[in-house]
Parts: sequence; C-alpha cells; structure tokens
Amino acid sequence: MPLDVYHSLCDQRLADLRADFLPRLEGMAKLTLEIGCGHGHYLSAYAAAHPTEFCVGIDLIADRIYRAGRKTGRARLDNVAWVQAEATLFLDALPRDHRLERIFLLFSDPWPKRRHWKNRVLQSSLLDQLLPLTEPGSALHFRTDHHEYFEYAQKIVFAHTGWRIAGADEAPWPFEQPSVFQERAAEIGYHSFTALRR
Ligand SMILES: C[S@@+](CC[C@H](N)C(=O)[O-])C[C@H]1O[C@@H](n2cnc3c(N)ncnc32)[C@H](O)[C@@H]1O
Repeated sequence: MPLDVYHSLCDQRLADLRADFLPRLEGMAKLTLEIGCGHGHYLSAYAAAHPTEFCVGIDLIADRIYRAGRKTGRARLDNVAWVQAEATLFLDALPRDHRLERIFLLFSDPWPKRRHWKNRVLQSSLLDQLLPLTEPGSALHFRTDHHEYFEYAQKIVFAHTGWRIAGADEAPWPFEQPSVFQERAAEIGYHSFTALRR
C-alpha cells in the first residue's frame, strides 16, 4: 500500500475512534486494558470478577470484537467495552486524562522469524507510548507460550528506564482464567511477568 494511502487510512481510523468509541469512556478515569483480547474470554471473566474496574478490550480483528461484545451483552456486563483497533493507534487516540492501571498482553503473536520481530506488540516504543497514560505502580501483565518472545519481552523491559520487572511476591498474577490461547498452550506451558511503571 502506498505510504500516503496508509497515512490517510490511519488518520481516518483515529478520527473514527475519537468520534465513535472514546466518548463511551468519558468519566472513566481509570481503565484496565487488554491489548489483543481475541474473543474476550479473559477480559470478560476479569470484568465480571472486578465490577469496580472499567475494562477495555481491543483487537485488530472485527469478528473477535463482535463476539466479545455479544458475550458480555448476554451477561449484561456493563463495566467492559470492546473496540476494533490497532494498539498503537488506540493509545495515540486515548485522551491523556485516562489512566491505565493494568494492561494485559496475553499470548500476543510471537512472530518467530527475526525479520518479523518488528511486528511484535511488545516493543520499547510501546512502553514509551504507555508512559503518559500510566502512573507509578501501573502494571503491564505479559504472558506467552513462546520462550524466545518471553526472553525478548523481558530484555525490552530491562532496557527501559520507565518500567521494571516485578517479582511474583510483589506483583502476583492478578487473576487466573485461561484465555483461548492459554488453553491451546496447556501442554507446552507458558511464562508470565508483570512489569511495573517506575
Ligand atoms: C494469538 S492471539 C491471542 C488472543 C488472546 N489474547 C488469547 O490469549 O487467547 C493475538 C491477538 O492479538 C491481536 N493483535 C495482534 N496485533 C495487534 C495489534 N497491534 N493491536 C491490537 N490487536 C492485535 C490479534 O488479532 C489476535 O486476536
């Protein structure tokens, strides 16, 4: 796709997010965000168990967001909202008066080939982008079944001055509910860490 077409699509998507979705978050100062929520299995269970938190699930794929919404609509859960969005675009659009208290990134696509690593969601630039939307103690919970992505993600956090990896005693995993990809990984196992904003 030519670069100017790509930029104008991004501008249009940003404008749509600002007009159609972000007004739904008005008054919700503190948010729990899941990036790449898939069909919303994890976040809908999390939202049901944490009725005082307002949760937002984002995913690139429209059908997954539609199914997530149908599920929480049937359950009449009113503390969760879903939106089809690319993570960095969503974070660009989110007004700075929101605070992300928790961010979940669960079984994010590992992009195993080195030339594709740039497509991984967890990058130093993502941690930069989260800084103005978080405060000290805000948590980023990362889980994967891909050992090499786990090591890569840890290195990204270690090298970043704004975030640090917390020990399991300091920041235990906040809520256990297998996501679709966690269930698929049941045999090979998975690794988790929590990064805390300094
Ligand atoms: C491997 S699936 C994991 C889904 C779910 N978290 C789970 O554990 O079952 C990764 C999901 O992340 C979404 N995704 C990938 N890159 C994304 C991005 N840049 N922004 C938003 N969602 C993204 C994909 O569409 C996909 O649904």
